[in-house]
Amino acid sequence: MTGTQNELMSDMQYRLMVFTMNVIDVLFSHIEKRVAGFGIRPGMTVVDYGCGPGRYTVHYSRLAGRQGRVYAVDIHAMAIDLVRQKMERFGLDNVEPILAHGYDSGLPGHVAELVTAIDLFFAIRDKNAFLAELKRIAKPDGTLILDDGHQPRSQTLAQVAASGSWTIVAETKDHLTLKPAG
Ligand SMILES: C[S@@+](CC[C@H](N)C(=O)[O-])C[C@H]1O[C@@H](n2cnc3c(N)ncnc32)[C@H](O)[C@@H]1O
Repeated sequence: MTGTQNELMSDMQYRLMVFTMNVIDVLFSHIEKRVAGFGIRPGMTVVDYGCGPGRYTVHYSRLAGRQGRVYAVDIHAMAIDLVRQKMERFGLDNVEPILAHGYDSGLPGHVAELVTAIDLFFAIRDKNAFLAELKRIAKPDGTLILDDGHQPRSQTLAQVAASGSWTIVAETKDHLTLKPAG
């Protein structure tokens, strides 16, 4: 079994995760406020990498507007279905859901001004391959917002440094902001 197969949750685990997220979102609706700090402007191309059920995708779509584009990438087919449902329900014409294979999104190179990876990095087995794919799809002056998820910041910092792909330009308690290295 490869690392990326291990990252793929069973459908049952996925349903449970989405149920938990729905409960959290009803009790603490924090996402819209958080996304407001990501610097998304009309016309931007944004990649929501590891989009899950599209909780962030919806906000990215609204901020990027009609001239913008949002790619919602995930390795789980249920995520892609859930994003499609949200697109229909909220009329999100600028979103394209993409089923990734391993650490390959299939997106063209240098496509995005902003890539985000929220609540996902801790679970990635091959951090170097993952960060290299995010760098490949980001524009040379693009930005990555990388959330630690369930691991300490010190671990994220060490893993980013070891990859050599990204340079950290800012930190908040919730995430790192990075620019492509070299
Ligand atoms: C905990 S969920 C977070 C979903 C979303 N970012 C959020 O915060 O609501 C992690 C998501 O990352 C996806 N994922 C895990 N490994 C991945 C990989 N190698 N490439 C793309 N998506 C991946 C999972 O299928 C899952 O949908």
